[in-house]
Amino acid sequence: MTNQLESLRAYTTVVADTGDVQAMRTYRPTDATTNPSLILKAVQLDAYRPLLETVLRDHPDAGPATLTDHLLIALGCEILRIIPGRVSTEVDARLSFDTQASIERARRIIGLYAQQGIGRDRVLIKLASTWEGIQAARILESEGIHCNMTLLFSLPQALACAQAGATLISPFVGRIYDWHKKAAGAEWDESARSGANDPGVESVERIYRYYKAYDIPTEIMGASFRNIGQIRALAGCDLLTISPELMGQLAADTEPLSTRLTVESAKAQPPEWMASNEVAFRTELNQEAMATEKLAEGIRVFTADALKLDALLAAPRTA
Ligand code: E4P
Repeated sequence: MTNQLESLRAYTTVVADTGDVQAMRTYRPTDATTNPSLILKAVQLDAYRPLLETVLRDHPDAGPATLTDHLLIALGCEILRIIPGRVSTEVDARLSFDTQASIERARRIIGLYAQQGIGRDRVLIKLASTWEGIQAARILESEGIHCNMTLLFSLPQALACAQAGATLISPFVGRIYDWHKKAAGAEWDESARSGANDPGVESVERIYRYYKAYDIPTEIMGASFRNIGQIRALAGCDLLTISPELMGQLAADTEPLSTRLTVESAKAQPPEWMASNEVAFRTELNQEAMATEKLAEGIRVFTADALKLDALLAAPRTA
């Protein structure tokens, strides 16, 4: 009997949101995404100890930034041996407000992949959807380096990414849900705000409708899920990146699953056209408390995990 993970593949490209290659062998995603928190988690798995040791042994004099890049590439190459599609490798969150430094780091990552025989078409450079990150993407895309714009919580961010010609955006669902749930406190009504009425799902659907109505080619990959109801409500989205735990729940569910998002329905009721420029981006993002706070918090959390990774890479040398 077909399960929901299989049914979903008929409408949407399934992506694994993990650095754990064992999970990829189990669930056979097309693409895979990582982020600083997932990398930190993955390198602490016993299965990755040899890879970590090899990176440290091969680059004895490298500083933390270079070591991290070598580690990201080693992990990315492991992942690419299993999946048929693309791996997303994230630029250091500490560069989120520095366009030039982000460009240089992205070029270095692509160069290191090339040394391993991995072409640009198999890598997405993940950048925070700050104004500076989006400008970095504009330059990188003009050089044929494909970008995945992350920490995206709002339509103004999505519009600026489209205008920059980003290959893909990752609008978050779960962190939007978290914010609204926390803000509502005791007033939160889980059943009234689930599935299609989940605030995170609504945000992705709004972006999907806008992009499809105006034939924007940037791919939309829903990310950051807290439950499978959110995933089911976004069936039909271009791609969805899903944790192994939630892929397991979908694989265990044999209820029929149909598509909810379609290009036809988006085109039937086109939303109003919106201009996108730096002033509009900053003004409209600032108007959305949730998106402003979650973007800032996301950069802080990824920065904290990048610092932990630096310490972990330095530890064997100082021990
Ligand atoms: C993937 O690209 C995102 O980094 C990931 O989905 C974030 O998920 P989280 O909100 O559960 O950390």
